[in-house]
Amino acid sequence: MMPSILHQRPLHNAPSDHYPLSSRYFSIPMRQNSIFSRTGLMVMLALMLIFGVFFPSTGIMGGMFSVRKDSVTKWRQYSLAQAVSYVAKNGTVIVCAVSESYLPFLKNWLISIARQKHEHQVLVIAEDYTTLYTVNDKWPGHAVLIPPALESQVAHKFGSQGFFNFTARRPRHLLQILELGYNVMYNDVDMVWLGDPFPYLLGNHDVYFTDDMAIVKPPNHSHDLPPPGKKGRTYICSCMIFMRPTNGAKLVLKKWIEELQAQPWSKTKKTNDQPAFNWALNKTAGQVDLYLLPQAAFPTGGLYFKNNTWMKETEGKHVIVHNNYITGFEKKIKRFRDYGLWLVDGHAHESPLGKL
Ligand SMILES: *[C@@H]1O[C@H](CO)[C@@H](O)[C@H](O)[C@H]1NC(C)=O
Ligand SMILES: *[C@@H]1O[C@H](CO)[C@@H](O)[C@H](O)[C@H]1NC(C)=O
Ligand SMILES: *[C@@H]1O[C@H](CO)[C@@H](O)[C@H](O)[C@H]1NC(C)=O
Ligand SMILES: *[C@@H]1O[C@H](CO)[C@@H](O)[C@H](O)[C@H]1NC(C)=O
Ligand SMILES: *[C@@H]1O[C@H](CO)[C@@H](O)[C@H](O)[C@H]1NC(C)=O
Repeated sequence: MMPSILHQRPLHNAPSDHYPLSSRYFSIPMRQNSIFSRTGLMVMLALMLIFGVFFPSTGIMGGMFSVRKDSVTKWRQYSLAQAVSYVAKNGTVIVCAVSESYLPFLKNWLISIARQKHEHQVLVIAEDYTTLYTVNDKWPGHAVLIPPALESQVAHKFGSQGFFNFTARRPRHLLQILELGYNVMYNDVDMVWLGDPFPYLLGNHDVYFTDDMAIVKPPNHSHDLPPPGKKGRTYICSCMIFMRPTNGAKLVLKKWIEELQAQPWSKTKKTNDQPAFNWALNKTAGQVDLYLLPQAAFPTGGLYFKNNTWMKETEGKHVIVHNNYITGFEKKIKRFRDYGLWLVDGHAHESPLGKL
């Protein structure tokens, strides 16, 4: 009885919603049961504490902790192979990799995927244990942690070494999934699905990706890897990648891992994982079947949020929108709100994570 009460989160409209975990285990649903006055509740909690301390194996608390402990042990041992086989549909899994501070974005992204009826295929690669338990408590089996866990506080600042370390693990995770024999769709969680991307994954190519350049292309643009830009390389986004479990796709990932090792993070070059991905594409292009997705359907944030003319011209064609070309959680949330894409506000009930 107690665990289910504690897991309900009636405070979803509270200002703390951006950081849902801060109140996760402490939000007591007073409204739902008028017998629980504040004083009554304190007395009850005190009694439970006494029982928990003096009779740890009996009493309500004993039962509650054992449920929690079982679930902790269970999810700690949950492997990537088990997780992928549990969530994959038609041999395909949709993955993201998130740490605790990204949970509001995870939720927003999931609501948009649920609207396209693909949420059952989603696997959250949790970068810390809080994320692992939080997601699996609400949505059992949909989060996995590939050890070691990262220190979540250092992982979220764009351009920092923590962020680099965090993103540098991505190609390894993706390679493991391909080695298990599945197709994988990777997304950053600051994306929103407005349509179903799967019909756009035409043909039988190894790797599908989107261009992060904000320059407008003709509607019939080529699907080949674009020519290199100013820095001698392309600006393909590492934010959305679809791969088939082919040798070609695995080669790209292995090259990406090599490139990350060859050009590690430094204070002067505050890089992220995207340049390494582009060098990997450049160096494997001759051996791998690559496919550039249409710009109108998969626009960079530099276009979608910044060119109203283009936006109107391509109305109804957008499939996945990326909230990039801006940094900072609050700014991203505000921009999503301004464009009616912060679904967490009015559509939390559509999330498989509930009112997390
Ligand atoms: C799996 O494939 C079938 C047949 O092509 C299709 O009807 C179904 O929607 C697919 N399921 C998912 C989750 O993509
Ligand atoms: C990032 O990884 C490097 C190399 O493994 C390590 O030395 C460094 O401490 C890590 N930094 C952070 C902030 O995680
Ligand atoms: C796109 O269409 C234009 C005009 O219709 C044509 O000139 C051009 O060759 C086409 N480009 C490609 C890549 O098909
Ligand atoms: C790879 O990068 C080099 C250096 O910028 C460039 O000359 C070459 O054309 C690129 N290759 C491909 C396939 O894009
Ligand atoms: C904005 O989009 C329009 C229409 O596609 C295009 O002609 C124009 O060059 C774009 N503006 C910028 C600054 O890229």
